[in-house]
Order: sequence, then structure tokens, then C-alpha cells
Amino acid sequence: MKIFVDTAKLNEIEEACSWGIVDGVTTNPSLIKRAVDDLRVNKKSIDIEEYIGKICKTVGEGRPVSLEVISLTSEKMIEEAKLLYEKFNPIAHNVVIKIPINTRTDKGETTNYEGLKAISRLSKEEIPVNVTLVMNVGQAVLAAKAGARYVSPFAGRVDDYIRKKLGIEFQKGDYFDFQLVKRVASEKLNQKIGDRVNKPLATIYLDEDTKRAVSLGQDDGLYSGVELVKAIVKIFRIYGIKTEVIAASIRNPRQVREVAEAGADIATIPFKVLEKMLQHPKTVEGIEKFSEDVVPEYRELFNMG
Ligand code: G3P
Repeated sequence: MKIFVDTAKLNEIEEACSWGIVDGVTTNPSLIKRAVDDLRVNKKSIDIEEYIGKICKTVGEGRPVSLEVISLTSEKMIEEAKLLYEKFNPIAHNVVIKIPINTRTDKGETTNYEGLKAISRLSKEEIPVNVTLVMNVGQAVLAAKAGARYVSPFAGRVDDYIRKKLGIEFQKGDYFDFQLVKRVASEKLNQKIGDRVNKPLATIYLDEDTKRAVSLGQDDGLYSGVELVKAIVKIFRIYGIKTEVIAASIRNPRQVREVAEAGADIATIPFKVLEKMLQHPKTVEGIEKFSEDVVPEYRELFNMG
């Protein structure tokens, strides 16, 4: 699995690149806001064009940097995509344009398909597209069909959506134990069916209470963001779809493991989560013991004068 860093903070990108583990970077307007806010706090002047140019250069050739458009209509998104691509791709030939799968808001300003139109037009013109805000399988399939180079299912936000519906309180970085939810939901369903099992199937099947129990803890048949990633990967493999799956909205190391097991081509990981992936109490204990056990004879070996 390739590792992208999900940040627009140049210091984080530089640091992660120095570890030799970065295959690419993803940004979005919120991540750019966080980077700019940091610069403001440190009273540094902001030349956003120069700043993004530095990101592209730091990440370097062959490692994609996703930059997102900001408009909601296909025509405007295409214009913005071209502007971003023309401005920044020459720096290290690594720019990918992020287009939301659907830009319709509750205010209903646009249609459901502006994103798709932009994706297919840009892809036809060989501008690589990373389709963002993917929250279900249908969006991923249509994005791939429209020619997307990447799709980004938002695992963490799907978890948020399910947890919120269940009334579960959580912190952003908390692991969502969807296996537990799944087991409880199935137990509840068993109870619901209970002694009615001998009644005609249709009466049980059509019962509103049963329906609620069946869909408990899931979003359209999926119990978590990881399951969404798994489903998309499975479908793309069955049909030999070349679009790569970027597991996005990753909040903790366990999710990274699970999306890797699910076969995601890429995980885009926030810097803080990358740091957490390196930590284990037994590693700390081990390094303390190794340091303590160094005998003078062995230390002498490293005295290079
Ligand atoms: O890659 C998408 C990501 O930046 C969104 O993450 O944690 O805000 O849902 P999050």
C-alpha cells in the first residue's frame, strides 16, 4: 500500500519526506486553511502560490500532490482545475486535481452531477483527477467510469455518520469498533425475530420494527468506512478497474491497518496518525533496556575518534 500524507503543512510534508516514506500528498481547502492559520499565528507572510509551489517541489516527481478546486459548477471547476494544473504541474509534474463527486448542497444551488461532468471532461483531457468526498460505492463506481485516476472514500467521516445516527459520543481520533456494533445489531435482530420465527416470513420481513433492527448500525448495508473501502476495492478488482483507491479521512493507526487489509491502493494519512503508527510502549521499554545494557567494550567500538 502506498502512503500519502494528508496535510498542507509544509513543515509536516518536509519532515515526513525526510523519513523516506511519502508516496504523495493530499490537500483540501480545510487542510490549506489549517496551514495558513499556522503561518498567521507565527506571523509569517503568506504567498499561497509560492507556498503550494514549495509543496509540489518538496514532494517531488512521481509523487502526486492533490490540489482541490473550490467552485460548485462543472464549468468553473474545470476552469479552476486547469489553472491549478497549468500553474503547479510544471514544477514537479506531480499535480492531481481533486474534484468532489457531488457539489450539490442543501441550498440546492447546483445539480448532483456537476462533479461527474468535470471529472469526465478533465480525464478526457488527461488531467489526472482524484475524486473526493466519496461516501458510498455508487459514487466510486461512477467516478471510475468517468475516468478518475483516484477515488477517495472518506472512511472516518462514514464512521462519524454511523456513530452519530447511533448516538455514540466520540472524539475525532477514536477507533470505531464496528465489529462490536455488528455483533450487537445481529443479536438485537435475533431477539426481535425471537418467537415470531414460525410466523409467515412476509409478516416478519415487512414489520417496521424488524426493518429498523436490520438496518441498525449501518449505512446502506455497510457498517463502517473501512467496509466502504473494502467494497470499492473488491468491485474494482472484479472488473479490472484501473482507478486507484485512496483510503481517506483516516483517524487512527488501526484504521490504517484495516484499510491495508482491505486492499486499498493508497492510504492518505494525517501527520499525527503517522507519528502514532511509530509508537508502542514495548518499543519504548525495549529501547531503554538496550541503551542501559550497552557494555563499555561494545560502546568502544563506536568511538570513531
Ligand atoms: O483526506 C480527506 C481528509 O482530509 C478528511 O479528513 O479527518 O477531516 O474527515 P477528516
